[in-house]
Amino acid sequence: MSADLGFVHRYLPGEDESSPTLLLLHGTGGNEEDLIPLGQELAPGAAFLSPRGKVSEYGAPRFFRRLAEGVFDQEDLLLRTHELAEFVEAASAEYGFDRSKLVAVGYSNGANVAASTILLHPGLLKAAVLFRAMVPFEPDLTPDLSGMPVFLAAGRMDRMIPPDNTQRLADILDEAGADVDLRWRDTGHPLTYEEVGEAKEWLSEVLPKLSSAQDRGK
Ligand code: MLT
Repeated sequence: MSADLGFVHRYLPGEDESSPTLLLLHGTGGNEEDLIPLGQELAPGAAFLSPRGKVSEYGAPRFFRRLAEGVFDQEDLLLRTHELAEFVEAASAEYGFDRSKLVAVGYSNGANVAASTILLHPGLLKAAVLFRAMVPFEPDLTPDLSGMPVFLAAGRMDRMIPPDNTQRLADILDEAGADVDLRWRDTGHPLTYEEVGEAKEWLSEVLPKLSSAQDRGK
């Protein structure tokens, strides 16, 4: 655990310099340790950057404040999203990971802050796996997310995340040009093994393309 760079976090280097980096964003009540096993399952050999949300909801860490379930404190969300983006930039300078291969993996509240980061800092994240995500805010201006691969995994019986809200997020991302892969399952809020398997397969196709995009730019 490291407390510098503004967030308590873990950083685990990848197998080699060309490894992608997964930004792991936990759900409400989680911490920087929680998603590391998930990251290792999804992308073995990748580097992992895993911050702990700075907001405490009765002791449960979150990435931004909410006023009620599914009702977000928009001012705090904006501030915390910018803070997270600054942390990612500082961490890339500190640890030397390749930002052209930075992929967010978020669950629930972590998926929502990832969605907010995608909308407010287009280009920072090169791809994203969002488990149980909803619309963080309705953007006034449509960002340019041309070709950004985004995997969304949603549960039709999720009582925290209304299905039409996840659909709306997919539409916003799609209208911005992202390459959205929205998968539905007859399941609730907790993540299932099947979805982890699907996300792993999706990443195994997306990650090499991020590498080759960078190699072409050399
Ligand atoms: C949120 O607050 O981000 C969502 O309602 C899901 C969660 O509780 O993490």
